[in-house]
Amino acid sequence: MEGLAAAELAQRFGTPLYVYSAGALREALERIRGAFRESPEIYFPVKANGLGAILRLLASDGCGFDVVSGGELKRIQAAGLAGSRVVFAGVGKEAWEIEEALSRHALSFINVESLPELEEIEAVAGRLGVEAPLALRLNPDIQAGGHPYLATSRKRSKFGLPLDQAAVALERAARSKWLRVIGYHVHLGSLVSEPGPYLAALERVQEWAGEDTLRQEGIEYYDAGGGYAVPLVPGEESFSFSRLAPALEGLLGDAGWKLALEPGRFLVGGAGILLTKVIRVKAAGGRKFVVVDAAMNDFLRPSLYKAEHMVWPVEGEPPPGDSLPRGDTDIVGPVCESGDFLALNRDIPPVERGDFLALFAAGAYGDSMASRYNSRRLAAQVVVDGSEAFLARPREPFQELWKGEVWT
Ligand SMILES: Cc1ncc(COP(=O)(O)O)c(C=O)c1O
Repeated sequence: MEGLAAAELAQRFGTPLYVYSAGALREALERIRGAFRESPEIYFPVKANGLGAILRLLASDGCGFDVVSGGELKRIQAAGLAGSRVVFAGVGKEAWEIEEALSRHALSFINVESLPELEEIEAVAGRLGVEAPLALRLNPDIQAGGHPYLATSRKRSKFGLPLDQAAVALERAARSKWLRVIGYHVHLGSLVSEPGPYLAALERVQEWAGEDTLRQEGIEYYDAGGGYAVPLVPGEESFSFSRLAPALEGLLGDAGWKLALEPGRFLVGGAGILLTKVIRVKAAGGRKFVVVDAAMNDFLRPSLYKAEHMVWPVEGEPPPGDSLPRGDTDIVGPVCESGDFLALNRDIPPVERGDFLALFAAGAYGDSMASRYNSRRLAAQVVVDGSEAFLARPREPFQELWKGEVWT
């Protein structure tokens, strides 16, 4: 990790340990910005990684935040970033969350996901006496995303407004003193590897907007959402912003729509690893189980999405460059669930008790999805910048597991 050996970090801070590289994060940000003629507005999705140190790093590099809950708004505030610009998406925003966004945050826009939500926003804005800046989250029914749970823009998805309802939303907003639609938002899903679906989505939106002048009036933004893939295993390619950017800018042309992006995984996914220690190696049923001290509560993606991430010993030969070595080894955690595994059917070099393994591309949707299941404490998190390692969140003390409980 930059100038530091992973094994030394694991020794120093203990395991399971998330380690993030500040340099890799800045580099990913630059790869996005550098691809565009005019740098887009970048809103980092807090759900991908809510660690205060990461949020502060991104804010200092000029990023705003994409939030999906009142809790995430409070998290930004707690990190001292109340002045950062936010966009607010999600199908179930409650009145108090809308109020918090409208009254306390440097709000770029709220992404409207339904007609009833539009009415709720109008009521809250009216009560506060403010005009709500809105983007309509459109559902253009486009297939994209790495796993069915990661696709958010199909017809039967719970997200966004179908285009016919978006037209109704525009009419309602035009009649309201408290609502101002300034953009369109489309989030296709996650782990999208090709530019095609982004371009198809924008084309569909432009075609629809071209049918009626009301659909163009006052529109300042096109928010293309997130989802840009990073490699999880050797041989996979990173999403190519150098291919997306010129095509997207070409389509936007001189319509005057500013581009906003919400890259989560692309920024932090590849910048993080999860370090774990081998507890023991067990053979049974013709298979080998490497039992490690990280589990599904620390990293849920393999169990939840069948995600395949590279897992490899931190010392010895580096992992092969172009494929995922297959074999009869499962790398499993101590949690009492058969679904608790970090990797299945792998071939890894021989390891023994006390050795450290790294799970790659763990920086996004890793700790932010962690739980305390099986009364396990949340892992420690470290940010490395050059040759410095900073403990951004210590491992929880056990008392956190029952903090606030009341016993009669
Ligand atoms: C609205 C929205 N924007 C952005 C993202 C970020 O996606 P990714 O981390 O894959 O870039 C998500 C992820 O679920 C999302 O729901």
